Amino acid sequence: MEKSSYIMESCDEVKRLETKTGSSAVQEQACWAGLKPGMRVADIGCGSGKTSSYLKEITGVTGEVLGIDRSSDRISFARENYSGDGISFVERDIYQDLSDLGQFDFIWVRFFLEYHRKSQFDLVEKLSKLLSPEGILCLIDLDHNSMNHYGHSARLKNAIESSIAALEKDADFDPYAGRRLYSHMFDLQLENIDIHVGAHHLIFGELKEGEEFNWLQKVAVAGRDSGYDYPDYPGGFEEFYLDCRKFFQDPRRFTYTPLIICRGSRGADSVNVE
Ligand SMILES: C[S@@+](CC[C@H](N)C(=O)[O-])C[C@H]1O[C@@H](n2cnc3c(N)ncnc32)[C@H](O)[C@@H]1O
Repeated sequence: MEKSSYIMESCDEVKRLETKTGSSAVQEQACWAGLKPGMRVADIGCGSGKTSSYLKEITGVTGEVLGIDRSSDRISFARENYSGDGISFVERDIYQDLSDLGQFDFIWVRFFLEYHRKSQFDLVEKLSKLLSPEGILCLIDLDHNSMNHYGHSARLKNAIESSIAALEKDADFDPYAGRRLYSHMFDLQLENIDIHVGAHHLIFGELKEGEEFNWLQKVAVAGRDSGYDYPDYPGGFEEFYLDCRKFFQDPRRFTYTPLIICRGSRGADSVNVE
């Protein structure tokens, strides 16, 4: 499998993840997928550890959550802020051998596959082999990621779409990861597959706390490093950034991204064959 770098890497990534992650969305999604008290859970690409802590609240005192991420900064933050009885964190690259981590009753993979366009299926297959019999795999990702806006100029629309296309071509980013989740589970012959579609990045009217920071970080980190040189903006990236900021601050703008949740389970009698 070909490994990619993380396009949102920055010294502010812990802050961005902490600001944008809310308990109710995580817990509603996990309960819908079948997370129950007592389960052993893996949180793949756990970032700052906030999602792991919300999952732990559902698994209760008899459950266990292991957050896994390859960033030493984010794993240190997670250990300092969220580790405790039944919740721990490990610094690990998902491309490495994970078999020593044991089996899991529930594997949570949210906003992770979008950063691994070329290896998505192989990664899902690898994770599915860590499921205990009847264990649940929950994949959550966005579709048409960050591309649905209304009220912006043709110049801004073209620059947003072109910079995302550059990330898709050169940085292993997949703005359409959400629509592929079902096929991964179908091809792996998982059972009891179900899908839920909702709205993420839903923004209208005045910006709510954290929304401006999240969006401008996306532009400042991924947009700047996309490799696209913003030819329609004489001032280059800086002028594009200001145009984005003006658009997001305008209460008339409308923005949303479809969020797709796909859950499936391993058969009771299935055997892992390497
Ligand atoms: C968008 S963030 C985390 C989001 C979090 N899962 C959530 O639900 O909000 C993606 C995380 O995946 C991690 N990541 C990316 N590629 C990885 C890899 N190959 N192995 C382990 N972690 C990885 C990044 O370090 C980052 O912390």
